[in-house]
Amino acid sequence: MTTINKDAKIYVAGHRGMVGAAVVDELHARGYSNIVTRTSGKLDLREQDAVHAFVGNERPDAVVIAAACVGGILANDTYPYQFLYDNVMIEANLIDAAHRNDVPSLVFLGSSCIYPKFAPQPMKEEYLLTGELEPTNQWYAIAKITGVKLVEALRKQYQRQYVSLMPTNLYGPRDNFDLQTSHVLPAMIRKFHEALPDKPVTLWGTGSPRREFLHVTDAARAVVFALENKFDYTLYNVGTGTDITIKELALLVQSVTGHTGEIQWDSSKPDGTPRKLMDVSRLHKAGWKHIIELEKGIQQTYTWFVKNADSIKEVRIEA
Ligand SMILES: NC(=O)c1ccc[n+]([C@@H]2O[C@H](COP(=O)([O-])OP(=O)(O)OC[C@H]3O[C@@H](n4cnc5c(N)ncnc54)[C@H](OP(=O)(O)O)[C@@H]3O)[C@@H](O)[C@H]2O)c1
Repeated sequence: MTTINKDAKIYVAGHRGMVGAAVVDELHARGYSNIVTRTSGKLDLREQDAVHAFVGNERPDAVVIAAACVGGILANDTYPYQFLYDNVMIEANLIDAAHRNDVPSLVFLGSSCIYPKFAPQPMKEEYLLTGELEPTNQWYAIAKITGVKLVEALRKQYQRQYVSLMPTNLYGPRDNFDLQTSHVLPAMIRKFHEALPDKPVTLWGTGSPRREFLHVTDAARAVVFALENKFDYTLYNVGTGTDITIKELALLVQSVTGHTGEIQWDSSKPDGTPRKLMDVSRLHKAGWKHIIELEKGIQQTYTWFVKNADSIKEVRIEA
């Protein structure tokens, strides 16, 4: 059932980020043209008064929260305060402003890494808050869990049809390829590319953890799907439902880039959660499924990376 018109005013927060930009592209592709955006320079979402004034003036029909302070293990470890404070402020301000201004539709983005470190696999939505968090990203996780709970509380208390999506690891165009702050897949792409054709490449950890990867265009399709449909639940996992080891991923990225050198594993670096695989049956039942398979997605991302190597984004966390 479509719950939103093509002329609906949709505010995409974080439109210059990997996910936000893909959401804007997907909305345009599906015929939505009334899309509102603001850069963080124009609207700092940590500022409550500014956010309330903006949402009150614009009165959007829908809000997509793809703005966040995002990064890998090292970035979380280096900037714990920003990962907790910035994310709590961004989501609390936007969710509350949407509610107070009676915005009918809101999609909040959580992340698979906020589930407990040792959650049974594959992870179901109801496993949230059932065990210890992965210590390296607890700051980000606590902030994101707060956002999920704000959305849940609004549905329970005010019957708001707001939804949280929990994407697995995303990759694709406009990803963060900065080795200080990036996630595993873009970091591999950059390392293999820079070591071409046969210099050795050192990767973090043992290579044994298992991970699931979803192309960002598929994640954007899930966001638009959530805007267009009425959901029974407040929380939905978004993924492919299949995982591979980091070693297998490395071999895939190596073959896509054409690198032929040795891969060395630095086991002094942390592995993170041993396995992270989403149970995506809830979203499948609602009618959504991913389209882009991993190898094809990596090829497309590598082509994008090579084309944009000179302008790839660097760390932007303000400490
Ligand atoms: N990347 C993944 O693998 C992944 C996986 C699961 C879930 N997610 C979720 O998807 C969402 C977006 O992630 P992403 O990878 O697209 O992040 P990203 O590329 O780093 O983009 C984040 C965006 O947030 C905006 N932002 C940050 N702080 C802001 C502030 N104080 N005020 C206003 N805007 C601010 C930035 O806007 P400006 O460019 O204007 O500065 C930036 O464009 C996050 O909620 C994340 O948790 C991502």
